[in-house]
Amino acid sequence: MTDPLVVAIDGPAGSGKSSVSKEVARRLGFGYLDTGAAYRALAWHALEHGADTSDATAVLELAGDFDVEISLDPEHYRVRVGLVDVTAAIREQRVTDAVSGVARVAPVRRSITALFRRLIVGTTRPGVVVEGRDITTVVAPDAPVRILLTADPGVRAARRSAELDTDDTAAVAAALERRDSSDSTVVDFLTAAPGVTVVDSTDLDFAQTVDAVLGVVRSLVETG
Ligand code: DC
Repeated sequence: MTDPLVVAIDGPAGSGKSSVSKEVARRLGFGYLDTGAAYRALAWHALEHGADTSDATAVLELAGDFDVEISLDPEHYRVRVGLVDVTAAIREQRVTDAVSGVARVAPVRRSITALFRRLIVGTTRPGVVVEGRDITTVVAPDAPVRILLTADPGVRAARRSAELDTDDTAAVAAALERRDSSDSTVVDFLTAAPGVTVVDSTDLDFAQTVDAVLGVVRSLVETG
């Protein structure tokens, strides 16, 4: 059996990465792996245990008995910790606020990266769209398709505000900026690594962004 074709997509918060990656996976008949969900699930797990998520030792200890399951089916996206379905809970603001602290613990990143690689090779589909912050550089640096999906900060804040149904775009912009600057001290997802194709969605709507990503996939897979 051949290895699944990996489409690696990185980008900052609010770039449209998750919704675009999921749709690209559907269109290609591929699996969809949201790597941020694993970090979010660990942050949720730490909060449930009343742990201080800025304490690396505490986070590492909790990561030891962390049983997470992430579905790769773009039609039935589900995240579970132990017996609890946390698909909705990991989107709560308290989790978003805590996740950067959890994601900066290097041994945690290594074991979560190993989990991602197991999930990728375990798929029964011909390929997987894997999205996150370090997919093009750490998780799947040899993927035949590597994309950095970006958008101007103002556009990202406006999109995230619409998702959150709030008019306070300034507060959303400040929160995005805080999280990006914290996350980018751990992995650089704001500049494209060599060989990574940039797709800038600033002036594209959702359908156009999906088409742009599919165009990159086709050109790289056909020529590669
Ligand atoms: O994409 P997201 O907002 O769901 O990601 C949640 C957090 O997880 C984000 O703040 C950074 C971290 N993350 C990471 O460090 N590496 C990844 N591959 C994916 C997410």
